[in-house]
Amino acid sequence: MLNIWGFMGSGKSTLGRYVAQVYQWKHIDSDERIEQAEGLSIPELFARYGESYFRQKETDFLARLVRDQQESDAEPFTVLTTGGGMPLREENRQYLRQLGPSVYLHVSFEEIVRRLAQDDQRPLWNERELAKMKQRYHERLSIYRTADHIIEADHYTVAQVAEQLKNVIRA
Ligand code: S3P
Repeated sequence: MLNIWGFMGSGKSTLGRYVAQVYQWKHIDSDERIEQAEGLSIPELFARYGESYFRQKETDFLARLVRDQQESDAEPFTVLTTGGGMPLREENRQYLRQLGPSVYLHVSFEEIVRRLAQDDQRPLWNERELAKMKQRYHERLSIYRTADHIIEADHYTVAQVAEQLKNVIRA
């Protein structure tokens, strides 16, 4: 199972939906699965239980996915799109490695700011605190860059990024 990493707004979920529709790959989105299991949206989850609760749900979700993958026969080609903070825990990275190769979608901070203008679905994004957001972005880069593959996604459409993804996994 290919897993896609990247900062908030880098286009992971959009890419996942695209490859599901156009290439008929199976797509699993971690945030969506957690929202369904908890019966709450991400902003509601953060507001009600806090970030550490959500982080534990991410780890639990990955542990279950690894277990299910070991038990199931080969599925159609699957892409997992992760929440932006998922690869930060070492434990999570171990699970992700067990699932399969990782791909980091790199988008510049300036482009992230443009894409997330007026976003109200991301509790950890606040465009009135750009210095703090930039710091978070740079703190995460060194971890994101440990992914098996990196795609420069800044100036590309979702179709072009999907093409790059195909090339990366063929190589
Ligand atoms: C988060 C990213 C979000 C979501 C949560 C926390 C993060 O997902 O998991 O709000 O820590 O970067 P997206 O990357 O899809 O925005």
